[in-house]
Amino acid sequence: MTSVREATERLAAAGVASPRYDAEALLAHVRGAARGALTDEHASRYTELVELRAARVPLQHLTGTTGFRYLELAVGPGVFVPRPETELLAGWAIDGLRAHPAPLVADLCAGSGAIALSLAHELPGATVYAVEIDPHAVAWAQRNAAARRAAGDRPITLIQADAADPAVLADLDGTVDAVLTNPPYVPDQAVVAPEVAQHDPPVAIFGGPDGLVVVRRLIARAANLLRPGGLLGVEHADLQGDLLPEAVAADGRFAAIEDHRDLNGRPRFTTAVRA
Ligand SMILES: C[S@@+](CC[C@H](N)C(=O)[O-])C[C@H]1O[C@@H](n2cnc3c(N)ncnc32)[C@H](O)[C@@H]1O
Repeated sequence: MTSVREATERLAAAGVASPRYDAEALLAHVRGAARGALTDEHASRYTELVELRAARVPLQHLTGTTGFRYLELAVGPGVFVPRPETELLAGWAIDGLRAHPAPLVADLCAGSGAIALSLAHELPGATVYAVEIDPHAVAWAQRNAAARRAAGDRPITLIQADAADPAVLADLDGTVDAVLTNPPYVPDQAVVAPEVAQHDPPVAIFGGPDGLVVVRRLIARAANLLRPGGLLGVEHADLQGDLLPEAVAADGRFAAIEDHRDLNGRPRFTTAVRA
């Protein structure tokens, strides 16, 4: 059987960013499926998974899940794999809403449902709407939402639509306490890792020539949804730490515009308050 050391070397040679971690995670996945002694079949499954990872299939597509804050979410082909940095945006909103007994929240561009489902889990009084345009992603979000509902979380309302369309959630205009979005924000011409280029849906990643085409429309939509004093949080690329706050300011309806850095000190998300 391929050892973890051999698997680590294979993945490192293939350019995988965290070879040891991935080699161990794949072994844990095979062991979990084995529920006992590893057979030859499990050993060859491990070798097969290591080869797929060396071909730059995302680790989470091979294991079928990813952790996001307190949740384990199902992911796979057709949906953006939630990233650890987005936990910060969700955490900022949860901290800001914790004192509110029954906040009304919208997650625009919901993907697998990571942000929306975390809000519903960590803020039990919240009413959460999630809007996602891609039917494949919606199917994953529905699966995750069903699992969270079965686990006792309050159901979220999931809508398949263009989140920037003024007709979508129009009955909530002027009443929402927080709008969160991790939109597609990568400039169209940017070079991305093979895992992203070949396995994340393009609609989840690319946002026009400067990356902000969808974002600008979402900021305008958020301004209409939010009540005065309502919170906006928008994730962005690390090179957009000035551009994103400028885009929020350009809308003209927000105050207290701030940019936030991640644990590596990189600009990561912009927040603002509806004036
Ligand atoms: C970067 S992913 C984020 C997904 C999820 N919120 C997360 O953090 O893991 C962006 C998501 O926005 C969706 N999307 C792109 N344009 C959209 C639009 N106009 N309206 C709604 N969803 C959109 C994509 O399909 C994708 O699922």
